[in-house]
Amino acid sequence: MLIAGNWKMNKTAEETAEFCHALKARALPDEVDVAIFPAFTSLAAAVQALADTEIAVGAQNVHWEEAGAFTGEVSAVMLRELGVYAAIVGHSERRQYFGETDESVSRRAAAALQAGLSVIACVGELEAEREAGETEDVLRRQVLALPEDEDLVVAYEPVWAIGTGKTATADQVREAHAFIKGLLDAKVLYGGSVSPENAAELLAQDGVDGALVGGASLDLDSFVAICETAARIH
Ligand code: PGA
Repeated sequence: MLIAGNWKMNKTAEETAEFCHALKARALPDEVDVAIFPAFTSLAAAVQALADTEIAVGAQNVHWEEAGAFTGEVSAVMLRELGVYAAIVGHSERRQYFGETDESVSRRAAAALQAGLSVIACVGELEAEREAGETEDVLRRQVLALPEDEDLVVAYEPVWAIGTGKTATADQVREAHAFIKGLLDAKVLYGGSVSPENAAELLAQDGVDGALVGGASLDLDSFVAICETAARIH
């Protein structure tokens, strides 16, 4: 099981170092793989603070070129140099607010894998798409755009469940995860309002290989509680 904390645009480098030192001091269960995804500006602090641990550090995005005229972007080579092990691509906030498309997500994922990073690629339907019965069409389109690779993990994040406190039901999670696994041979994380209160039920569903946790990963006690729950289920 993998528990990944997506910090989004939260925590300065100083706050990151403080969190990481505190996280290190909590004995995390061996049965669970733990990773955090801080902002670009906090990656070095996280890598340094967690250097002598099994806790991995990843970035929230990555560009497909190694270098060049791409203002505001960061390449896989730059991330690797810092000691970063992975990158998230295609998060729904990138798709919604920053014009990310299936094609750009696919290019980002392929380049990151090629450069030796692991990738968490996010997919998921909007509320209106689910209501219109289009969930499988959307997932098929998003998943089939991804490269198949042993270092690629998919995160199923129904957009209506992100940061809303609403989660997919157990049935919806099992169905979506089975559907994704039928399209691509990959581990599939669930994401969307995962909390210490609902983690046990969500993580216990067939086809759930871990969680991508946003809001609840910013609080040390909540994040550790989710990791401990995952270890009990693994
Ligand atoms: P949330 O975010 O846990 O705050 O809903 C999850 C995500 O966006 O990855």
